[in-house]
Amino acid sequence: MREALILAARGRGYVEPNPMVGCVILKAGHVIGRGHHQKFGELHAEPNAMASCTEDPRGATAIVTLEPCCHTDKKTPPCVPSLIRAGIARVVIGHTDPNPQVSGNGIAQLRAAGIEVISDVMNAQCRQLNAPFFALTQFARPYVTLKWAQSADGLMGGAGNTPRQISGSESNRFMHMLRTRCDAIAVSADTVIADDPMLTPRRVPIIRTPLRVILDAHLRTPPTAKLIQSADASPVHIFTTVGNPPNWPGVTFHQTPTADGHLDLRSVLRELGTMKITHLLIEPGPRLAKAFMQQNLADRIWVIRSPVPLHETKAPAAPDVPYPAALCRDLGIDTLSEYLNPGSEVFFANAASPESQL
Ligand SMILES: NC(=O)c1ccc[n+]([C@@H]2O[C@H](COP(=O)([O-])OP(=O)(O)OC[C@H]3O[C@@H](n4cnc5c(N)ncnc54)[C@H](OP(=O)(O)O)[C@@H]3O)[C@@H](O)[C@H]2O)c1
Ligand SMILES: [Zn+2]
Repeated sequence: MREALILAARGRGYVEPNPMVGCVILKAGHVIGRGHHQKFGELHAEPNAMASCTEDPRGATAIVTLEPCCHTDKKTPPCVPSLIRAGIARVVIGHTDPNPQVSGNGIAQLRAAGIEVISDVMNAQCRQLNAPFFALTQFARPYVTLKWAQSADGLMGGAGNTPRQISGSESNRFMHMLRTRCDAIAVSADTVIADDPMLTPRRVPIIRTPLRVILDAHLRTPPTAKLIQSADASPVHIFTTVGNPPNWPGVTFHQTPTADGHLDLRSVLRELGTMKITHLLIEPGPRLAKAFMQQNLADRIWVIRSPVPLHETKAPAAPDVPYPAALCRDLGIDTLSEYLNPGSEVFFANAASPESQL
């Protein structure tokens, strides 16, 4: 199962909104096949593993991170009948499929065909890998990752919100690898005004181009911002409470309810869920970061810490993260800490994410 999990993780960024799945086939104590779900709409892990078998899989054990599928109204044929046809004797499963069309039915069909099924093996780790899939299918909202960089003296920008390059080149590469594996990237209007970001993945192999999102209750985004100027080529979504927004090419406005004079963040997430956004990366300043944390809406936090202090007064200071780190690693001269929110409804295990180890 450990190996199946590693295989599954290769699908991050390629398979969403599907779950990541890995499969290992064992016969007489030897691995005879390996596979994972490689791309949305393409073959699942089990047929890929069976196609790779170096021996006839009849009588073998299939170890799969997710319950094999049995429903037919989808792009690929169901996996349960193909496991039965191949003569697999035993199936070991990480977690059942939360999809109500499958949820236990795959296991029941395997057992009805005389196949031994052992389920919930490394269950928490398997579910943690697919936390974004659980967020969308069970809670109709994206998985939320906050990511920020802070200086050695805990600052996120310069005095009076002037832009500062805090992270080094290795951290920047990591940030772009991360961007190209998520479905949407959001910033506040304050960060648009301060930093004028593009929010595109650059200088890394492009897996997917995330949707660019601005959280802007009072529509303070300037029309001259790079995000707006480039929206024609790569769309931008602005969440706002302002009615009758301007007609900016490539920009979609989402009328959003208010909460305490700001955007109601739960409504924002719900709306992104209807757009099938599985994984939302937020690159917040300190106030937006605190708002997500205080409302228990951050599932995961990545903090890049630079060893260099800024020594500035009246500069935005990073919030403290109140959870234990799941991972700390070097990124060039910086360090990366990954924190999983144990109070999140999609927290299953304090297991470091595969993409934090890229
Ligand atoms: N180091 C980094 O990784 C990093 C990343 C991003 C930004 N920054 C820096 O951070 C600075 C900007 O920080 P900031 O604190 O001004 O901006 P911010 O934290 O990005 O955003 C502040 C905005 O968030 C919204 N907000 C605040 N509380 C909210 C709540 N409870 N619910 C919903 N929305 C809420 C408000 O916008 P509305 O008025 O629209 O409600 C508020 O103006 C800049 O210097 C920028 O360079 C650094
Ligand atoms: Zn399947």
